[in-house]
Amino acid sequence: MKIHTQAVHAGDRKKAPAHIPATTPIYTATTYFYESMERLDRIFGQEEEGFCYSRYDNPSAAALEELMCALEGGHTALACASGMAAVQMAVTAALVDRPRSIVAANALYGATVGMLMNVLEPAGVAVRFADPTDLQALEAAVGEARPGCVLMETVSNPLLRVGAIDRIAEIARKAGAALVVDNTFATPLLSRPLAWGADFVVHSVTKYLAGHGDVLGGVVVTTEEHGAHLRNLSRTLGPVLGPFECYLTMRGIKTFPLRMERQCANACRVASWLAGHPKIERVHFTGDPAHPDAATIRRLFPPNLYGAMVSFELRDAGRTEVFRFMDALQLVVRATSLGDVHSMMLYPVMSSHREISPKHRLRMGIRDSLVRLSVGIEAPEDIVEDLELALEKV
Ligand SMILES: Cc1ncc(COP(=O)(O)O)c(C=O)c1O
Repeated sequence: MKIHTQAVHAGDRKKAPAHIPATTPIYTATTYFYESMERLDRIFGQEEEGFCYSRYDNPSAAALEELMCALEGGHTALACASGMAAVQMAVTAALVDRPRSIVAANALYGATVGMLMNVLEPAGVAVRFADPTDLQALEAAVGEARPGCVLMETVSNPLLRVGAIDRIAEIARKAGAALVVDNTFATPLLSRPLAWGADFVVHSVTKYLAGHGDVLGGVVVTTEEHGAHLRNLSRTLGPVLGPFECYLTMRGIKTFPLRMERQCANACRVASWLAGHPKIERVHFTGDPAHPDAATIRRLFPPNLYGAMVSFELRDAGRTEVFRFMDALQLVVRATSLGDVHSMMLYPVMSSHREISPKHRLRMGIRDSLVRLSVGIEAPEDIVEDLELALEKV
């Protein structure tokens, strides 16, 4: 063969070697070759397991999806290009063969609210909001709306409220709605919503699961009942995660339980220190025995694991004082996002809740003095010292 042909074909399409890599390699191939058309036909028709085209399925993604099914106790998973792609895929799959109507929690990640109001509602999906920590109000909203989907987060942002997923799943099931739970803040270490009756669990793996601030990704995990809908939708819409990001996510997940345990323990230390500081007016933390949802948290979360997010309000502070405080941080990173190995602080009024009017924000309990801290794996005394020195500047 001529050099031009050799350059294209030589070395490729080797038989799989007898050795098995101990961890999953990055499979960048977009298409797969089989010895016969008969076999390729069976794989295209999903009569035989195998890979034919990476938008349908890819060995790196399949490995991550198997891992996520194990962590969340699910049957089928879909690795997506972002947490938002995962939220959208879960909601779309939940609405297959169900009324085009959603009852959503009244405190959700901003882009999720944007998806509901700016994408789904204009496309003809009825959207109604209800408080997931008020079961009577939620049940009434579901009774009136008769939705196809109920959408909530395990732990709300930024005030860290916790709804009783098992009771909400019951309300949804009775109404014939599928329950979608965004489990990003809680992670499967604290909460496995499918076991409590949810139909779909969603993660932004960008956060705790990948954990190192170097991957953007999402995942949906679901039950056998919804698995085929989810995967068939994905084959058509193609929201999939690339193989390199799948690899990074799997690598991150290997240490996720260890990181999360440490982050939860650090958050307890930081939250109790903040609660005793004279310049702190109020601490919102899921491990606080006086938390408004303490009974639900005790019932549903494992002992001593409360999550690693701590929101707190500076006393007599507005935007100027909060900026001064956050500008003085030396260790805690001033950045959006959460769940990384390093501690990070965000100002909700400026970022996640910027588009919401000040009046509406106040009604939601989000004041100008509120900041949100994602506690990392550093030595807790160093995190505390950084906060202490920064508070001196206020
Ligand atoms: C709870 C929650 N869900 C979903 C998302 C969206 O994830 P991503 O940024 O990976 O699209 C975020 C992002 O911050 C989030 O906090």
